[in-house]
Amino acid sequence: MKRAFFATLLLAGAAVLATSVFHQTAFAGGEKQTPTEDVERYHMGLWNEGKAVDSDIPLLDIFTPKEFARGYKPEQPIDYSHKVHVGKNHIECTYCHSGVTKSSFATIPSVELCMGCHTQVLKDSPEIKKLAKHWEEKTPVEWKPVNNLPDHAQFNHQRHIKAGFGCQSCHGLVQDMEVVERVSSFKMGFCVSCHRENGANIDCGVCHY
Ligand code: HEC
Ligand code: HEC
Ligand code: HEC
Ligand code: HEC
Ligand code: HEC
Repeated sequence: MKRAFFATLLLAGAAVLATSVFHQTAFAGGEKQTPTEDVERYHMGLWNEGKAVDSDIPLLDIFTPKEFARGYKPEQPIDYSHKVHVGKNHIECTYCHSGVTKSSFATIPSVELCMGCHTQVLKDSPEIKKLAKHWEEKTPVEWKPVNNLPDHAQFNHQRHIKAGFGCQSCHGLVQDMEVVERVSSFKMGFCVSCHRENGANIDCGVCHY
């Protein structure tokens, strides 16, 4: 009995130590950072590190349906990369997600917008050929949603952007992502704790209607 207790204690201690070492390497500046693989880095600038409350550790996501959990990163029909377009070629978020300052939805860009560049740029690439096929056939690309909320909860982009919050406070360092990944829990506690801290409305009807 006693032995099991001490073994557990030892294990817990080791886990805490390992996590703290991991955090130190992840957050240390300079060359140690490998932006695309280091998920921890995406937590920089992220509201409460993407957690609903401090005890809401990513491990708990095992009990959440995967499309509502942090780390959700579905394979997309076309190999589109934010790292290439935003990180390397400096295209503004709002150029493609033009709804973000005007409506509840950020919106996903149309095939036409992509083809504004890709009738010229890399037009022989197999991925661009897939895109061009949609353009010719006038069919949309079926992008898979990454950041889902349950139907009973409402979010509004415009209000948050006008209030001065950067995309990264909820979506992490998208400019470094080859494939977009969900990095926030988007649980009720995540929303409400920031609303509390900023004196925003926390009436139930604000988010549930
Ligand atoms: C403002 C111009 C511009 C727009 C708009 C644009 N792209 Fe690109 N795209 C580029 C450039 C430039 C590259 C090459 C980047 C590099 O290699 O540095 C690229 C590369 C790519 C590649 C990689 C192809 C390969 O074989 O390496 C894919 C796929 C792609 N874009 C898809 C898209 C999609 C999908 C959209 C619309 C959502 C889009 N692009 C919108 C400029 C653009
Ligand atoms: C050239 C166009 C383009 C630019 C610029 C761009 N995006 Fe995107 N974004 C897309 C496309 C296409 C998708 C859908 C495919 C995917 O998920 O990769 C997308 C998906 C997303 C998603 C996931 C949507 C979901 O389903 O939940 C987020 C979040 C996002 N972008 C944020 C950003 C941010 C933040 C920036 C600026 C740092 C940015 N995007 C710049 C084209 C763009
Ligand atoms: C306060 C948190 C927050 C901020 C800030 C934020 N988003 Fe979002 N975003 C969300 C949530 C929550 C969802 C899921 C909404 C849903 O399922 O109804 C989402 C969904 C999206 C989507 C996919 C669905 C859609 O709305 O079209 C895109 C694209 C996106 N965000 C881009 C952006 C960009 C670009 C910015 C910055 C200009 C940004 N977001 C800022 C929380 C945020
Ligand atoms: C980083 C801080 C932050 C996070 C995270 C955040 N919000 Fe907000 N939200 C605000 C602030 C501040 C306002 C008030 C903006 C204003 O005054 O226009 C606001 C406003 C709103 C509004 C409009 C309120 C009204 O009075 O009409 C809705 C709806 C909303 N948020 C929903 C959500 C949901 C749902 C989430 C979680 C998915 C969320 N917010 C996450 C800071 C945040
Ligand atoms: C700032 C936005 C916001 C406000 C204010 C808010 N909620 Fe929520 N609520 C959410 C979001 C987002 C979810 C979905 C994520 C989740 O399940 O935690 C949610 C989920 C829920 C759920 C489902 C919980 C579950 O585990 O499935 C209930 C019930 C609920 N809210 C009730 C309330 C009540 C009652 C109030 C007022 C006291 C309230 N909410 C205020 C954003 C909000």
